[in-house]
Amino acid sequence: MSLHIGDTAPDFTVDTTSGPITLHEWAKGSWVFFFSHPADFTPVCTTEMGMTAKLADEFEKRNVKPLGLSTDTVEEHRAWISDVDETQGVSLQFPIVADPDLTIARSYDMIHPDESETAAVRSVFIIDPDMKIRLIMTYPMSVGRNFDEILRVIDSLQLGDRARIATPANWMPGGEVIIPPSIGDKEARELFPQGFTTLKPYLRTTRVE
Ligand code: BEZ
Repeated sequence: MSLHIGDTAPDFTVDTTSGPITLHEWAKGSWVFFFSHPADFTPVCTTEMGMTAKLADEFEKRNVKPLGLSTDTVEEHRAWISDVDETQGVSLQFPIVADPDLTIARSYDMIHPDESETAAVRSVFIIDPDMKIRLIMTYPMSVGRNFDEILRVIDSLQLGDRARIATPANWMPGGEVIIPPSIGDKEARELFPQGFTTLKPYLRTTRVE
């Protein structure tokens, strides 16, 4: 099944390293960083799990719950987590979904047969508190993800929701933002009393908190 930005994230009930969870109920008012990785006891995945654990406070600050997945079992995940903790200097606390029969991986289109018939590629779904998919990112097995980018895109989405702005290329928190063309100048003057710069009628920039 192919999922799109704006779709409701398919709900599921599944065993995880923190016990059984039902996605929508578990998320309860939080954002979710749902990410798959190919397999337990593999090097790149070990660093990604360690990084997610290291960033626990950053995710919490943004009201985001991380949720990992691979097509291994809970027992395998648990054994591997102690390696992650030992080698990455963390105490991994977020749940990792066990999906040995590939049900969830298939429903989220995480199996890309040219990469593997049985292991998930590195998919990311950022899901908002209404359980809408807001971002989809897919990396090959050989490339570990950039977690600064994952936090950056969450910051952009949350600021966009709050302030009705879009963010330009390479935007970082605190940087100039863009007033979307769907907002006319009259409304823009009300929404952005701090003012804005018009470079072209369709390219207006401002700053927001
Ligand atoms: C890794 O996590 O290191 C990895 C997993 C599957 C294929 C390639 C790399």
